[in-house]
Amino acid sequence: MIDAALVILGYLAGSVSTGVLVARLLGLGDPRHDGSGNPGATNVLRLGGRPAALATLLGDALKGVVPVLIAQALELPGITVASVGGAAFLGHLYPVFFGFQGGKGIATGLGIFIAAAWPAGLAVALTWAVVAGLARISSLAALVSFALAPAYFLLITPAPALAAMAAGMALLTAWRHRGNIRRIANGTEPRIGQR
Ligand code: G3P
Repeated sequence: MIDAALVILGYLAGSVSTGVLVARLLGLGDPRHDGSGNPGATNVLRLGGRPAALATLLGDALKGVVPVLIAQALELPGITVASVGGAAFLGHLYPVFFGFQGGKGIATGLGIFIAAAWPAGLAVALTWAVVAGLARISSLAALVSFALAPAYFLLITPAPALAAMAAGMALLTAWRHRGNIRRIANGTEPRIGQR
């Protein structure tokens, strides 16, 4: 019973689209329609600069962190923690409060990874930072770091459910980045901060 309630809570928390709220609050338009059309920190950076992007990043990460930490504090089994994390991720991608028009899941996914097993989450975040630092392309950093996430979880944690969660999230993220993948392939994907 508590398991199901937490999965629902995770989905509802994930459904709070920080990027849309921050942009509305600061009068930056709607990131679902402006820039790349993605309500994530990268696009909010394009539309409104660093403070707005940082607020989006933190808000989106927190909504992944909090439900997973609650599941862990209640000492629920790995499969429940993974389901709660997966539900928060799905909420961000398909938010019930925002017409199911959500984001690509990077900040929320990082929050989930860090809360689920911080060394694995840190490895994903560092991979993102290295690729972003070298290539200056946010989506490429996201795709590479999330593709490696299941391996990091398998190596670092004893819970196969968390590795399965990471694999599911990596697949969904790749699907949500299909437009970015096309642009990376034809050399038209903007660098970080470019419009
Ligand atoms: O966080 C999402 C990022 O990987 C890509 O965002 O706006 O460049 O499509 P965007």
